[in-house]
Amino acid sequence: MNLPYAEPFRIKMVEEIYQSTKEEREQWLKEANYNLFNLKSSQVYIDLLTDSGTGAMSDKQWAALMTGDESYAGSRSFEQLQNTVERITGFKYLLPTHQGRAAENVLFSVLVKEGDVVPGNSHFDTTKGHIEFRKAHAIDCTIDEAFDINDLHPFKGNINLEKLEEVYKSHPKENIPFCLITITCNSSGGQPVSLENMKAVKALSDQYGIPVFFDSARFAENAYFIKKGRKGRKTETSKRSVKRFSHTVTV
Ligand SMILES: Cc1ncc(COP(=O)(O)O)c(C=O)c1O
Repeated sequence: MNLPYAEPFRIKMVEEIYQSTKEEREQWLKEANYNLFNLKSSQVYIDLLTDSGTGAMSDKQWAALMTGDESYAGSRSFEQLQNTVERITGFKYLLPTHQGRAAENVLFSVLVKEGDVVPGNSHFDTTKGHIEFRKAHAIDCTIDEAFDINDLHPFKGNINLEKLEEVYKSHPKENIPFCLITITCNSSGGQPVSLENMKAVKALSDQYGIPVFFDSARFAENAYFIKKGRKGRKTETSKRSVKRFSHTVTV
């Protein structure tokens, strides 16, 4: 018998959660007008809306809170973060933000203006929000297979090159600040993007002079899917995968 994968860690802390009844959940959903963002977290037993804040921190992460250097300037912890980011991505410069949506706000306030279009693969909700807030449009160029739940395509986060080229052809270059690839593609079920697709998007975008940016919120998972899913890529480490293709890491 094939036993399921055994996790190589022990969970040391438990947090109580309220086990609601079906009737309570139906009532709360009605009161929330069926909008999950209107629910209180105390009303949620299993959170399927997000992966944010749902995981446990490791003992090393908790310990780092105590050994962290809170100095106002020249912090040793910043240096460590900077070195780690450079080692993984190859980027020399880093602007830390407390959350992904804050990173989007900083980046988009510089790059996105009214009337712009931002093509990409199923933009995350905060991403779309930041684009639309600036009276610009997010254009979804995800492959059609992504929307067929019975299709077993291994990289349903891929961008359809024809859809992308159509955007490039039908809008002036100055209205396309960048193409955004989200790895993995959260808004279409956390689906991965293949290396071939990233390369092809970059090559096509280069032809039109459009920069390619990455929202790398789950780059490690994307690299894992690539490693698992393809023969000949078995030795590719997460680090190498992201280093070769990251243009900019926003999250
Ligand atoms: C792809 C992607 N971009 C941006 C964000 C926003 O990040 P945050 O929740 O840290 O603001 C998320 C959050 O899950 C995400 O998955």
